[in-house]
Amino acid sequence: MQSTIAILPGDGIGAEVTREAVKVLRAVEQKFGHDFALPEALIGGAGLDAENDPFPQQTADICADAAAVLLGAVGGPKWDSVPTESRPEKGLLRLRAALGVFANLRPVAPHPILSGASPIRADLLQGVDIMVVRELTGGIYFGKKERTADSATDVCTYTRPEIERVLRIAGKLAQGRKNKVTSVDKSNVLETSRLWREVTEELMPREFASVELEHLLVDAAAMHLLSRPADFDVIVTENMFGDILTDEASMLAGSMGMLPSASLNEGSVGLYEPIHGSAPDIAGQDKANPCATILSAAMLLRLSLGLEDESAAIEAAVNTVLSNGLRTGDIAAKGDQVVGTAAMGDAIAAAITA
Ligand code: IPM
Ligand code: MG
Repeated sequence: MQSTIAILPGDGIGAEVTREAVKVLRAVEQKFGHDFALPEALIGGAGLDAENDPFPQQTADICADAAAVLLGAVGGPKWDSVPTESRPEKGLLRLRAALGVFANLRPVAPHPILSGASPIRADLLQGVDIMVVRELTGGIYFGKKERTADSATDVCTYTRPEIERVLRIAGKLAQGRKNKVTSVDKSNVLETSRLWREVTEELMPREFASVELEHLLVDAAAMHLLSRPADFDVIVTENMFGDILTDEASMLAGSMGMLPSASLNEGSVGLYEPIHGSAPDIAGQDKANPCATILSAAMLLRLSLGLEDESAAIEAAVNTVLSNGLRTGDIAAKGDQVVGTAAMGDAIAAAITA
């Protein structure tokens, strides 16, 4: 049976990294005898330039018909002065909302071989294996926005059901891991965070009695992520805190270029994207690290298509290639030989079919 995976390259390095992920998906197809349809569609600045819309209707249709969506990155200086409603980023937010993917899973499991690429001491990185669950379709990203010449407003709203459903995802994940959930909020200042904490304190002991629950204020969490990263298991938090903390957490893995993500709803259709942005400074130069997107494709096969062996094969191939010493610039230490985006993708695809 043919499975359809919509490919949305987006902007900047998005095109380069998704190209490598497609290569790897084709290698999986060949190795395991699958048939993937991989239709491409425009999003972000690319959609804006071609269709005057960062999330064109045709893209919405292709995504609605797909089993899963793999996305590169959106945005860039070219569209900096575009009004809020048609910014490239708005296209991504509309896609997330259209798919209803409220839970964004961002695993942070640093590869020991890359500890030299992290600014954090290697002894602190030992045993680090974190799953950040970021609420993705609510909060300040989606609240009412107002702007006059001299004032600006961004409204942050959360409802009890929005908090409950993302907590359930976090609780279930923790049960399959180390049985610990750290909920991050700013309940000493924000009303939405007070509701978040209240709902967490009710739901977690009731539905996940065996899971240890810890609360951290977001400022403290930012510090603890660096001072004791190995103590975390699942971290669950609201949209904007999750955005910020996962860029920080990527430094544990050495580079944003290593961190994949999966955005899920209650069904099986998901959106998969690297956590990094479009990196306009290196776009089109064959310098980007495709691993985050390739590892996102691995999450896609596992979580949306139920292809566990295929997913594991991609993860193993990435590990093999890293163990063989291949490094893109972002994860290279002094003296390492640096390869380009395409060479990295070729090597990972070859390790799968080998
Ligand atoms: C991310 C990105 C996006 C976000 C941007 C591009 C809108 O930073 O996926 O982390 O803030 O969610
Ligand atoms: Mg971000």
